[in-house]
Amino acid sequence: MSQIFTGDEAWKSKTVYQIYPRSFSDNNGDGIGDIPGITSRLDYLQDLGIGLIWLSPIYKSPMDDNGYDISGYQEIAAEFGTIDDFDQLLSEARKRDIGLILDLVVNHTSDEHPWFVDARRSRDSEYRDFYIWRDASENHGLPNGHSSVFGGPAWTYEAATGQYYFHEFSHRQPDLNWANPKVRAEIYKMMNWWLDRGIAGFRMDVIDLIGKDVDQEIIPDGPNLHDYLQEMHRETFGDRKDVLTVGETWSATPQTALLYSGRDRHELSMVFQFEHVTQGWDKLYGKWRPKPFDLVALKSVLSKWQYALAQDGWNSLFWGNHDLPRAVSQYGDAKGFRTESAKMLATALHFLKGTPFVYQGEEIGMTNAPFHTINQYKDIETLNMYRLHLEAGLSSEDFIAGANRNGRDNARTPMQWSAAPNGGFTTGTPWIESNPNFSEINAEVSVSDDTSIWNYYRRLIGLRKELPVMVHGVYRAFLDGHDKIFAYSRTLGSERICVMANFTAHSVSVDVPDNLQTHGRSLIANYEPVDTIGREITLRPYEAFAVLASSENRGDNPPAS
Ligand code: GLC
Ligand code: CA
Repeated sequence: MSQIFTGDEAWKSKTVYQIYPRSFSDNNGDGIGDIPGITSRLDYLQDLGIGLIWLSPIYKSPMDDNGYDISGYQEIAAEFGTIDDFDQLLSEARKRDIGLILDLVVNHTSDEHPWFVDARRSRDSEYRDFYIWRDASENHGLPNGHSSVFGGPAWTYEAATGQYYFHEFSHRQPDLNWANPKVRAEIYKMMNWWLDRGIAGFRMDVIDLIGKDVDQEIIPDGPNLHDYLQEMHRETFGDRKDVLTVGETWSATPQTALLYSGRDRHELSMVFQFEHVTQGWDKLYGKWRPKPFDLVALKSVLSKWQYALAQDGWNSLFWGNHDLPRAVSQYGDAKGFRTESAKMLATALHFLKGTPFVYQGEEIGMTNAPFHTINQYKDIETLNMYRLHLEAGLSSEDFIAGANRNGRDNARTPMQWSAAPNGGFTTGTPWIESNPNFSEINAEVSVSDDTSIWNYYRRLIGLRKELPVMVHGVYRAFLDGHDKIFAYSRTLGSERICVMANFTAHSVSVDVPDNLQTHGRSLIANYEPVDTIGREITLRPYEAFAVLASSENRGDNPPAS
């Protein structure tokens, strides 16, 4: 069994931790998290057991979108530190057996990137074709009606050269023209420069947009997408077996996920799909007017992805990231059962097949930002949408209610390290307000308490390294129509894990299907240990557990695989 953890699959038993550098740890007291701050927290991450860090962008940037607008791909943002600080982080991480995954933001650059500065100067610029320019349409209007994700048209007019340029995000994030082979060559060169420095992979920002056809308004999943990814694989990380790549793909379906991550496709290790996190969004108004939580719908999405990528491809597993609300606020009960529900969510997710991603602060059960006025928000998307929704007639209170649920700043309040002012994130004034609950919810308290959420995550992350069945076992769901309980098993050879999780604040009694009944060893539980799942069982509020069946008592035959 042990050979399955070597070679190009070594990352499969690892857990990834996402750091949003601006909000993680401020070392020099300017209120902004920085790279030396991250280095100073490596022991904490090593103790948690994570094998890889995904760093949100650390590059030179005017920070219009907090670094997702890059003006120098091979430079470090001054407020985050220097390239020496980066090398220091890399080598200190390596000493602890932790790899660094960088954020690759190549759908667009900042408008301050030297390529764009030159391109916008003249139609004859050698960088003009690095971006996407179109003439005004016949009646001197926009080239077409495509809107930007952050609100308003996706086209901005440049008077100096009399053309519009395309930007899927803010007008300060012009899209690169991937159809230009020179652009692709520059990007691959830059990627190799980072790989040669010793990084462990890339998280690829909105990578499903690079194959776009703006004239046909096919932006995600465009006609050239997979050709470019295969070329990128060939030209950059393809021969480096230990490199992990994960594409951010809001458009992904199980079918396209197999194209990205299928074993013979030579593209990516896996993608982030968003079906499970967006099923609670309103069809028309999206995340700003969320719908009530529906566990049956959530489970059907999770199971669909587990089944679809059972034989080929690979899933990423996550509840949150820097664009999403805090997991415990969104899917648990941050007020009445914060500890129980945070552990329940971790249980439900970490036993699935795929690579778990933990977003900073999730491991201590951090909660959404309790902001009540628009001035407290810093996120460009939230601020733009506030203006547009108010123009469209929504009240400020209603918008803030939506932002409190789903706004991106929920995940961007400073990491809570201790009960010190601002949760020990900074000795200065943080760039965004700290959540005042830091005196109660913080890493110091959580690390020292054996029953804490943090110690629960540490155990889950450790189990994945120990148990091949947790990495490779075949998934099977039970009780699909049950609106309170999520239940599944994982099976590998003679090993089998049964998982049950109550997603409600009430006790729930269930008749257990034959094939889920088990007797064995308690792997983890958020109340008392559970070693038997009988014909009937009652789960207390947000109770969750996993039982490893002893091989002579497996309760069923393995599903055909
Ligand atoms: C991705 C990032 C998000 C960013 C956007 C544009 O969705 O996760 O934070 O604003 O791309 O780069
Ligand atoms: Ca700082």
